[in-house]
Amino acid sequence: MKLAVIGTGYVGLVSGVCFAEKGNHVICVDSDVDKINRLNQYESPIYEPKIEAFIERNLKAERLEFTTDMSDAIRRSDIVILAVGTPSMDNGAADLSYIKAAVKEIAAAMDGYKIILTKSTVPVGTNEMLAKLVASLTDHPFDFVSAPEFLREGTAIDDTLHPDRIVIGLDKNELAATMIALHLSFSEQIFITDIRSAEMIKYASNAFLATKISFINEIANICEKVGADVMEVSKGMGLDRRIGSSFLQAGIGYGGSCFPKDTKALIQIAGNVNYEFKLLQSVVEVNKGQRFQIISKLRESLHQLKGATIGIWGLSFKPNTDDIRDAPSLEIIELLVREGAKLKLYDPIAMDKFKKVLDHPSIKWCKDAYAAAEGCDAVCLLTDWSEFSQINLPRMAATMQNRILIDGRNVFSKDQIESSGLEYYSIGRPL
Ligand code: UGA
Repeated sequence: MKLAVIGTGYVGLVSGVCFAEKGNHVICVDSDVDKINRLNQYESPIYEPKIEAFIERNLKAERLEFTTDMSDAIRRSDIVILAVGTPSMDNGAADLSYIKAAVKEIAAAMDGYKIILTKSTVPVGTNEMLAKLVASLTDHPFDFVSAPEFLREGTAIDDTLHPDRIVIGLDKNELAATMIALHLSFSEQIFITDIRSAEMIKYASNAFLATKISFINEIANICEKVGADVMEVSKGMGLDRRIGSSFLQAGIGYGGSCFPKDTKALIQIAGNVNYEFKLLQSVVEVNKGQRFQIISKLRESLHQLKGATIGIWGLSFKPNTDDIRDAPSLEIIELLVREGAKLKLYDPIAMDKFKKVLDHPSIKWCKDAYAAAEGCDAVCLLTDWSEFSQINLPRMAATMQNRILIDGRNVFSKDQIESSGLEYYSIGRPL
């Protein structure tokens, strides 16, 4: 099929590349000329394992194009995929200005029937609103379909090629055959529903996963007080298939461009119909507080933050990405700087991005995890990059001033700690 993808952010680029990989002809559109030039030279604007090889292979096979010419891309396509951002506004609601602008351009460029497939995360009712907008601008026929995206940063290609399910929201049964044909090679688990329910499935899924995380983080906080081990508790709970073991990893809370934004947007969606989503409000509150467990543990072990030298391992909101949007590290480091601590920071790939957002004379940027620990009073692990679990802890402890390690992601095992000579604090474990 001939597809145009509007927006080359995470969702747009990964979907476009994967649709091309499955043999469709895909034109990815973005207004950023520099981004398009780099993509045409096989250079990805986002850090994502495997993506550059996929871009190169599909460009060379002439199944993939990158362009700034939206009108041309739309005219040459049967299906137009909307994958522009819907960031949070100050009140938490999703900002629909980018998607509305894109839809207006689509309407202006249409020269015949198009299916407009929305992959951007949008509040319930948005596809209907956009359809009215398009109808007011063109006489050409069109249909809107909602196809929410469930890929995760860091594993985006695999998530897209092998999804647990595909959700398609449509309001005309005739569209189902085309949608099944487009998606069948990704998964046979295609759930077809109405547009409003599809829009809600995306928010409800992210909100539920965020709820699991905040739930296990509160259990962890209680475990610390009653002498239980949250890692054992998660394992024991997860064996029940009704509960499931995923997203029960306690730590310093969730970040990123999705959970914080989508939980707030769903609270707002509920509020708009006079429903107070109390459970989700608590999930957000718990998550806000959880990152400060690091600060409490530092205060408990060091007594005084002013003048202390603190190493930080990991800045990105999770491993295998350089994304620092809403990362717990931002608030933790800001607070430590304010308290007068000296900081030594290391992340395998997110340092450049972090530096642009937060830099200070009391911050030293380090070349590796050992360098970040050297001479420190304490080291705090904030992101569970796999390289941290391989660190030789006795070697690192020998270079520290005070041998304190605060593990915000429960990366190290009891055995590793016992032989390390470190004073160790983690989240919800009696170690
Ligand atoms: C999330 C969803 O998992 C995707 O299904 C969805 O498509 C995406 O949002 C989106 O809406 O676009 P993502 O934000 O990339 O994906 O990252 P996740 O792997 O879900 O992790 C989110 C945060 O939760 C990270 O900060 C991670 O450290 C934290 N987390 C995750 C935990 O603290 N504990 C866990 O057990 C799992």
